[in-house]
Amino acid sequence: MAGIPYKIYLSEKELPRHWYNLKAVMKELPPPMLNPATLKPCTKEDLTPIFCEKLVEQEFNTTDRYIEIPEGLMNFYRMIRPSPLIRAYNLERELNTPAEIYYKFEGTNTSGSHKLNSAAAQVYYAKEQGITTVTTETGAGQWGTALAMACAYYKVNLIVYMVKVSAEQKPYRKAVIETYGGKVVPSPSDTTEVGRKILAENPGTTGSLGCAISEAVETAVKTENCRYVLGSVLDHVLLHQSIIGLETKTACDKYGIEPDIIIGCVGGGSNFGGLIAPFMGEKIEGKNNIRFIGVEPASCPSFTRGRYAYDFGDTGKTTPLLKMYTLGSGFIPSPNHAGGLRYHGMSPILSKLYHDGYFEVRSVEQTKVFEAAVMFARCEGILPAPESSHALRVAIDEAIKCKETGEKKTIIFGLSGTGYFDMTAYMSYNAGAMTDYIPTDEDLEKGFATIPKVDL
Ligand SMILES: Cc1ncc(COP(=O)(O)O)c(C=O)c1O
Repeated sequence: MAGIPYKIYLSEKELPRHWYNLKAVMKELPPPMLNPATLKPCTKEDLTPIFCEKLVEQEFNTTDRYIEIPEGLMNFYRMIRPSPLIRAYNLERELNTPAEIYYKFEGTNTSGSHKLNSAAAQVYYAKEQGITTVTTETGAGQWGTALAMACAYYKVNLIVYMVKVSAEQKPYRKAVIETYGGKVVPSPSDTTEVGRKILAENPGTTGSLGCAISEAVETAVKTENCRYVLGSVLDHVLLHQSIIGLETKTACDKYGIEPDIIIGCVGGGSNFGGLIAPFMGEKIEGKNNIRFIGVEPASCPSFTRGRYAYDFGDTGKTTPLLKMYTLGSGFIPSPNHAGGLRYHGMSPILSKLYHDGYFEVRSVEQTKVFEAAVMFARCEGILPAPESSHALRVAIDEAIKCKETGEKKTIIFGLSGTGYFDMTAYMSYNAGAMTDYIPTDEDLEKGFATIPKVDL
């Protein structure tokens, strides 16, 4: 299409003033989260000892399609947004495809990913409530970094339980979190009861997000004036991330871009859920027929090989039960898995939409992901995060299909972050030492055995 610049930057005035609440549009809502003690739907009172009140309100909001972004948060968003929608002219040329490829690039802020959209929102509401410390988990480190930036800005203390293997492999991520004033505790640790229990049962464990969540929740509940914040999965996180989709849609409308396919990587589902939110809303209302594709690692295949069941969000089995696609909270991905996207579960909103057939999911192997990442870095100039490169892989595959069929499809994918702290993985790929691991059915059975038996 003529006249489309390499980069579409919206003006500050075009920044969305509201988030988009997909639940207000869905024909059927996801089943409610359950209190693990009573197996009854959670009430707001169940959640407010753990989460900030405004976030709990948002978690329960099923009626307001648009939720206003408070002015004090807009000031933060103005520092880091809007993010560009970029036409991948160079990649198109490299692939010699008739497809038009665009990517929404969330890596322009210092933390390097979309995670800051929700980190800023959650810390803003914590501050407003008078909370002085927040705790969280981080896997690859993007969420911890984003939260450290947000906590520094709003002057709130931060304790990050960082999956042990990531803390060891990514000392610079840890250093960035510490530079912004966050405290990093490699997890599992002996600083919490649940950490000590996990260590006793599994002494050599390299950790998992599920363990780190258990530790962060325990500390939040036991520390005065402290709450826990989560970087993905929950409905309010997807809500905050809808700013990605709203900006993308404004840019598309402005330039007459009509996507045929929208692709995003899925870990807990927040960047994909945010990117597709307004487009999916229109699809549900019968106003478009866009194909949405979520992409997950073959080594942690929550959607493509998981079960749709009530499960705990953490390994210590302390959180509310969520109905989601899950590999079981005891699932720990193979240590040769390089990037993030290692969480056992999945957003309940996306799980419901997937279950009802609103989008597809593909699983890809990491060597194929890095092949795409290196190709992209060399022709588009941006060094992509391994997580985002899952989406990139499938965008390239779809563009190659267009070359074969001669179709001129319009493809948008979410480039959720940059990969500067993932050089160990890139080095392993460059040296030809990276391997793939696809769990066997037997491996998965071990995780499934940890899913609680909840009959509803
Ligand atoms: C750059 C990047 N993209 C994507 C993800 C996956 O998370 P989500 O599915 O919540 O977007 C992560 C998770 O750590 C990430 O760091």
